[in-house]
Amino acid sequence: GSTRVGIVGGGPAGLMLSHLLQVAGIDSIVIETRSREEIEQTHRAGILERDSVRLLVESGVSDRVLREGHEHQGIDLRFGGVSHRIDFQGLVGASVWLYPQTDVFIDLASARERDGGDVRYGVTETAVVDVTSDRPGMLFTDAEGVRQEVRCDVLVGADGSHSMTRSTVVDRKDYFRQYPFAWFGILCEAPPSAPELIYTRSERGFALISQRTDSVQRMYFQCSPDESVDDWSEDRIWAELQARLAGADGFTLKEGRIFDKTVLPFRSYVCEPLRYGNLVLAGDAAHTVPPTGAKGLNLALADVRVLAEVLESAVLKNDKAALDSYTARALDRVWKAQYFSNWMTTMLHALPDASDFDVRRQLAELTAVVDSEHASRYLAECYTGWPTP
Ligand code: DHB
Repeated sequence: GSTRVGIVGGGPAGLMLSHLLQVAGIDSIVIETRSREEIEQTHRAGILERDSVRLLVESGVSDRVLREGHEHQGIDLRFGGVSHRIDFQGLVGASVWLYPQTDVFIDLASARERDGGDVRYGVTETAVVDVTSDRPGMLFTDAEGVRQEVRCDVLVGADGSHSMTRSTVVDRKDYFRQYPFAWFGILCEAPPSAPELIYTRSERGFALISQRTDSVQRMYFQCSPDESVDDWSEDRIWAELQARLAGADGFTLKEGRIFDKTVLPFRSYVCEPLRYGNLVLAGDAAHTVPPTGAKGLNLALADVRVLAEVLESAVLKNDKAALDSYTARALDRVWKAQYFSNWMTTMLHALPDASDFDVRRQLAELTAVVDSEHASRYLAECYTGWPTP
């Protein structure tokens, strides 16, 4: 078979791109190794920047986020047992929306189905070939067991952090950073403990209180990268979370049955360049951020917004050189997000080898951020998202 754009990966980046290309009149085929049900059950982040919400609504994917998502006009930074609100609306006139990535995926997958998009879930034995030629290809075995070959003008690698397509970029540079900790994430059946997110620094380590619905909550706490979820009983998890949130104000979390426990990987990664011949990378295949600040999904959506524009020139005007502008345009935001995610991470986590000086310096940094309107505004600007140039 053949198509204009072959997209490897049917997560939010791949599906959003396929949608935007169809709006621009460009055919694409998406291949994905997982089933639709499997992706719908993968819990990821839950915060959408203002422009991510706009993209979903204005490009015609769905306005469900406006009806079922929750607008958050700020966050709490909590340290020394005291909460400090960062008022996004007051500081930068913007909000974010609590809307789980699983719902973003459901909306995108439904929109692709509604619009007759060609998305092949559950494929196996995927490979990309001839990426530096004029007719690169995707090879795969479809869900019925039939071997397929699809040739296209441009291939997009949107196949996640363990990207197979990325490995074909032989002359890439990998920028990489590991952290000496991870996050332990839980989902529980309980009412919300707070109306907005609480990012907490405590002597026992970081904790984040997030939400999902009126009856389901999402929480995370810093743990060791080799932590095993089986070592953590419900009682032990609640004791740890309560201890990290405790303060003179008497704040306590509302507890409930924990029905999902996961240890999340924690690293920073950027690939450069994002174009190799007629292959371009997007989303987690191109870069990974640590979860603090919830930038991963937002970066993926921002990538494909730029990429859809670039592909319009490359495919409809046969201007393949347009693909070259993608790396610089996308990486500008990616590095800002790397800086922000790393800043939020190092400001709020307990670093294993921290000296007494380091601990006081970290508390001073947090105090400086909440006491300075300028610093708070910078945090609010980053958190709510940078405008697309
Ligand atoms: C969530 C995850 C994050 O990494 C974050 O910074 C905020 C919220 C979440 O899953 O709700």
